[in-house]
Amino acid sequence: MQKVIDGELLTVPEHVAIILDGNGRWAKKRLLPRNYGHKQGAKTVEQICEDAWNLGIKYLTVYAFSTENWKRPQNEVDALMKLLRNYLVDCIKRTSKNNMRVRVIGDKTGLSEDIRASIEELERVSSVNTGLNFTIAINYGSRDEMRRAMVHMAQDVEDGKVRSEDITEELFASYLDTGDIPDPDLLIRTSGEQRLSNFLLWQLAYTEFVFMDVLWPDFNRDELVRAIRQYNGRERRFGGI
Ligand code: IPE
Ligand code: IPE
Ligand code: MG
Repeated sequence: MQKVIDGELLTVPEHVAIILDGNGRWAKKRLLPRNYGHKQGAKTVEQICEDAWNLGIKYLTVYAFSTENWKRPQNEVDALMKLLRNYLVDCIKRTSKNNMRVRVIGDKTGLSEDIRASIEELERVSSVNTGLNFTIAINYGSRDEMRRAMVHMAQDVEDGKVRSEDITEELFASYLDTGDIPDPDLLIRTSGEQRLSNFLLWQLAYTEFVFMDVLWPDFNRDELVRAIRQYNGRERRFGGI
């Protein structure tokens, strides 16, 4: 979609994925506990959903907690789960107002019972919404997602629902957690790190990457527009000429 943003005609990516990084460093810089950075980061997520929709973005996917993040100290994991818990409950309340359709990707079986129940409710009540398609990756790891997809597909082959000769890229993709959403057009990672940390390895095959130095709690609409501008400077070829 083309849109005039701040006086400039830009192509708006349909799907933006974000590795939100730098909460800990943001807090450290202020001599505050890391968990304070996560709190601030959660507020940024809320604001950026609104900004993304106003800019014309249809799908926003954020990496909130990886399968590897369980390695962090127990107090940080607990704080992140508490934040998540509160966020999900708030999100359920807001869903009729902001019209967001929320999905959660990742291995939900690794989450506590109450968080799973909130996710289920949130996905159900927001499924009729027609605004931003907001996807949150929780206990998500791309390799784990592909492993789970393979297990599911192998079971379907065993049950005679799928023949191995019918396995196409599209069929495999449909078994992934992201089965019903398009691949990202733009990936943003904040905090200056330039790696994927096990995020959407399959889905990012032809995505444009923008790495930014800003720490996640400081990310805002202007930073998002900056990333979209960089995206507009790229030539997407998809292997052609
Ligand atoms: C990103 O911020 C949030 C999560 C991974 C949950 P970090 O917590 O990774 O912040 P840094 O990278 O330590 O600064
Ligand atoms: C990636 O950030 C995971 C999330 C943003 C949820 P990390 O901070 O965990 O990644 P590494 O450890 O720097 O690769
Ligand atoms: Mg980090």
